[in-house]
Amino acid sequence: MTLFEPIEPFKIKAVEPIHRISAEEREQALLRAGNNVFLIGAEKIYIDLLTDSGTSAMSDYQWAGIMQGDESYAGSVSYQHFQERIKYITGFKEVIPTHQGRAAEHLLFSTILKPGDCVPSNTHFDTTRANVENCRSQALDLGIAEATDVSSRFAFKGNMDVARLEETLTDLGSERIPLVMLTVTNNSMGGHPVSMANIRAVSEIVHLHKLPLFLDACRFAENAFFIKRREAGFEHRTIEDIAREMFSCADGCTMSAKKDGLVNIGGFLAMNNSQWAERIRQSLILVEGFPTYGGLAGRDLEAIARGLEEVLHEDYLEFRTGQVAFLGQLLVDAGVPVIQPFGGHAVYLDAKTFFDHIPQSQFPGQVLVCELYREAGIRAVEVGSVMFAHDDPDTGETIYPELDLVRLAIPRRVYTNSQMRFVANAIISVYQRRAKVRGLKITYDPKVLRHFTAHFESM
Ligand code: F0G
Repeated sequence: MTLFEPIEPFKIKAVEPIHRISAEEREQALLRAGNNVFLIGAEKIYIDLLTDSGTSAMSDYQWAGIMQGDESYAGSVSYQHFQERIKYITGFKEVIPTHQGRAAEHLLFSTILKPGDCVPSNTHFDTTRANVENCRSQALDLGIAEATDVSSRFAFKGNMDVARLEETLTDLGSERIPLVMLTVTNNSMGGHPVSMANIRAVSEIVHLHKLPLFLDACRFAENAFFIKRREAGFEHRTIEDIAREMFSCADGCTMSAKKDGLVNIGGFLAMNNSQWAERIRQSLILVEGFPTYGGLAGRDLEAIARGLEEVLHEDYLEFRTGQVAFLGQLLVDAGVPVIQPFGGHAVYLDAKTFFDHIPQSQFPGQVLVCELYREAGIRAVEVGSVMFAHDDPDTGETIYPELDLVRLAIPRRVYTNSQMRFVANAIISVYQRRAKVRGLKITYDPKVLRHFTAHFESM
């Protein structure tokens, strides 16, 4: 593939200086953090690719909205803008603001799930899974086989396995399944998109079983862009039109506006079922706030309303996904093993292949994360054995995930292409000295979500 360097469709109006500490200081920071970059202060990070969530740069139009936000407790004008915008894009009747995505998930599942229920999805994100399991229900992943095949170049690795969904719905029925979820794009599976054909097929089966379909819509605009670029018949449609069709196949959604809302905080739940919405609003008042602000300030609602307009601009999405692919292609050209095709919000390094001399029991993904920090002050996140390895309850044997990945999540409108070149060069430099790098052993192994707080030592 030829290298395409996308051009930023914006001018920079305010800047935030960044500073790279010395190699010795980085070494000390790693030591003090027990080789866990979650435990390093942000002032010691040079390029932060930990997440694309809540890290976006807002536009001058959004900042103007921050000044104009209406802080009325009830019936805020900013809530009206927020609601109008979401209704326009999604077509859903009920719009419930929340302070972020997981609050929307918690409100939805705690209202409608009963113990023993099952929620199928293409792949549940960690917080979605945790919120389903917290209701003593099963979070069932039904991704397609191509999603974990590193040699596959399938354009829509985020798709749901429709045949397995059909089987599950027939076996368990509406008694045990209150709704089906579809995550667009599929974050836990490489940020790959779901095709419109798959969304339509899932919608048809789910509705045949008289069940509702909900989208986990955090990255809906990036998904719509990939449909336009990769799926036949969509080349001449607008992104807005494609996004509206995606939502028209569903009955509701949960949304973390910290991604495609282009803001630093916020989320929402939207749906057509007014009875569910009524019950959810009762819980909302208890834990988040009055139904017209739900844990957010009026200014946040205004910024989200405006972010949801800008995120559908095609030149923005072309740059956004183009910048991810630009970084990915620089790495591919140097022979670094990365997951392809590139997803919408991140480049995923295949750490198992990168360090083929380090077994999964010595955490090759975590090793790579530490080396990127050591090399250049870059912070990434492990999505592999630290996050997912677990002991079989019957045999006690450790089960390792299929892939050991490192996610380089790119914040929206924050870094320039020259910073992406810097990141690529640092990774290539680690790749060239990979044979000398050793594995890690875990020295503090907390039981819950251990990747956030675990400590490691060099072998
Ligand atoms: N669903 C998906 C697909 C997500 O990626 C996230 C967050 C959430 C739900 C939860 O939203 O953070 O606003 O509560 N993903 C972030 C990430 C944390 O780094 O991928 P939230």
